[in-house]
Amino acid sequence: MTLEPQAFMTKLEKRVGLTNEDKELLKTNSEWGLQIAPEMADHFYDYLGRDEEMNGILHTGEGRIHRLRETFIEWFHEMFTGMDDWGVVYAERRWKIGLVHVRIGIGPQHVVPAMATVIHEVGKRLETDGKSLALKDALGRICMIDLAFIEQAYVEVSSAAVLQETGWTEGLFRRLIATGARSM
Ligand code: HEM
Repeated sequence: MTLEPQAFMTKLEKRVGLTNEDKELLKTNSEWGLQIAPEMADHFYDYLGRDEEMNGILHTGEGRIHRLRETFIEWFHEMFTGMDDWGVVYAERRWKIGLVHVRIGIGPQHVVPAMATVIHEVGKRLETDGKSLALKDALGRICMIDLAFIEQAYVEVSSAAVLQETGWTEGLFRRLIATGARSM
């Protein structure tokens, strides 16, 4: 059940429909992306800070929020540059971001609305700056890919932990999940 980041990236690109035209558009607008990234970071952390639980996580440890603003800006800009043309470096970076969130207990209930906030705020800025609907769509697609990486990290880490602890086979584990889901 070990996820191979680049293969996962390729699968997601196909599923989400991220095209070469989308990639070109993102790259063409990467300076704009970098320029608006600090403002997006402000919206993002203001949003997280309004949630008691997430605010608590953000303010644990010296300088965490400051560090996070920097990593958010990098993350946001990387969606436009694609790092290595959305290749192995990009995929491994997204996988690592997923693992970081699993480790600190941030789940789908936190991450999905947070990504929706990014999409909403970037949408407003796209409109103000007269950017195209095509760029909005491309950004929406890459945000969904990044989100899928974080979500999938949960499934992979949780499953791997159970298999390792119990020695169960993957088949048995899947049957137990199906039985559990039926009884809920
Ligand atoms: C759209 C969803 C999100 C994105 C794109 C995102 C992005 C990132 C990135 C790029 C990192 C740095 C990873 C690394 O160290 O390699 C990070 C770490 C972190 N994120 Fe997020 N994040 C998201 C959602 C959240 C949410 C909902 C929370 C809830 C409070 C959160 C809290 C944190 C914390 C606490 C860290 C670790 C900081 C540290 O190293 O001390 N993130 N995030």
